[in-house]
Amino acid sequence: MNAFEHPRRPRIGPGVAVGITEEVIRRQVHAFYGRVREDEVLGPIFNGAIADWDEHLAKLCDFWSSVVLMTGRFKGSPMAAHARLPGIEPEHFPRWLGIWRETARDLCRPEAADLFIAKAEMIGESLKLGLAVSRGEIPPLAERRP
Ligand code: HEM
Repeated sequence: MNAFEHPRRPRIGPGVAVGITEEVIRRQVHAFYGRVREDEVLGPIFNGAIADWDEHLAKLCDFWSSVVLMTGRFKGSPMAAHARLPGIEPEHFPRWLGIWRETARDLCRPEAADLFIAKAEMIGESLKLGLAVSRGEIPPLAERRP
């Protein structure tokens, strides 16, 4: 803990200013995965990997709560989770993001949708990069020559 992380001084995530609450997150996450499960490309990957959807949805609500409200509720390792997923490919990311974007635009106020979308785009980029590194397609930074 540093001086800025005193337990009695709650951190204010960027979602607060655009009206994102736990309820907004719950609606976005549940609607998004409802659509993903129906998607002809992504649906089989998710349905194949996830046995307990209630648990997955609760985990993803915690994830988004940590990202936009900075509640620190998420405990997981997205990079490792995606690296061990059979069948995941770089071209799945734009498809995932397309559904995320549409869901946010349908359900959220514009400023809230903008934030959800911007965060997902950034996280998606780093997951995609991590995936490529884990597959040996890109050398890790430390091994790259100047
Ligand atoms: C683009 C942005 C994406 C974000 C922000 C995201 C976020 C996450 C997070 C936070 C988890 C939980 C990780 C954990 O358990 O620690 C997760 C799991 C998962 N993601 Fe993603 N993901 C993205 C893209 C994708 C794509 C493109 C696919 C598939 C094509 C995918 C498939 C899955 C699956 C199947 C799991 C469950 C893995 C397991 O429990 O073993 N994700 N994702």
